Amino acid sequence: MTTAHALRLEGVTRRFGAARILNGVDLSVAAGERHALIGPNGAGKSTLFNVIGGTLRLDAGRVWLDGTDVTGHRPHVLARAGLGRSFQTTRVFARQSVFENVRCALWCGEVTMRAGANARAPFAKWMRWWRRSPEIEARAWEVLVDLGLEQAAHSPAGALEYGAQRRLDLGIAWASGARTLLLDEPTAGMNRDEAAQVISWLQRASAGKTVLVIEHDMDAVQALADRVSVLVRGRIVATDTPDRIRADARVREAYLGAPAAKERP
Ligand SMILES: Nc1ncnc2c1ncn2[C@@H]1O[C@H](COP(=O)(O)OP(=O)(O)OP(=O)(O)O)[C@@H](O)[C@H]1O
Ligand SMILES: [Mg+2]
Repeated sequence: MTTAHALRLEGVTRRFGAARILNGVDLSVAAGERHALIGPNGAGKSTLFNVIGGTLRLDAGRVWLDGTDVTGHRPHVLARAGLGRSFQTTRVFARQSVFENVRCALWCGEVTMRAGANARAPFAKWMRWWRRSPEIEARAWEVLVDLGLEQAAHSPAGALEYGAQRRLDLGIAWASGARTLLLDEPTAGMNRDEAAQVISWLQRASAGKTVLVIEHDMDAVQALADRVSVLVRGRIVATDTPDRIRADARVREAYLGAPAAKERP
């Protein structure tokens, strides 16, 4: 196993009852790559993220992060190892302000990074550092401006309208300092302008990071991804550049053959 892969999956399998939702998924994402995961509704994409992210147990297979076997590791352990994620449904601290949500994520990222070198530092020390960190505040503002959230900085996160809450969720995942990000449908439910803003932000924000992103909109995939993998009924059926995936007969068949996918022309 080389460390050139930020993320590598081999034979990842997960059953729910008798149904094999993930059926031997093999997938490699190179360090620094932007990789899209597409597939019909119910193909198992979010389930795969839950397995990689440690919120769901796998039945068989292995997962490597930066060359280290992390199969079955819990989410907080994976976060320390540099894995971050956003969710298909937004998760923010609803009563905290938008600004505090981002500042808190940046702080957690810094603590995780510094604690790696100095794991015995007392928590009180981090708290003191937190109170007087103008650098973190400045960076939090940058994230908010980039995501078009600066007007809402002092509102409770729970009061944001849907598209803005989704953008905040992404900002939090990014701000936590993860080197590898799993993003589950970052533009879902957004209007065209919001989606375009998120895509353009992701193009900039993903520099120096590895991104695996679930995305239904092929134009967004084209704009974002170096490579695309197609998941159909729990298996990867193709991995290639966005152009070649668009032209791939198996992919067309997978989408056209899946009734639920007709909802998204
Ligand atoms: N906790 C669970 N228990 C039982 N079945 C589940 C569970 N989670 C997911 N499933 C089933 O696994 C299948 C795959 O679901 P998943 O959410 O991974 O699909 P998806 O590819 O993300 O779809 P979408 O594009 O609609 O988000 C579905 O049939 C779903 O009903
Ligand atoms: Mg899903």
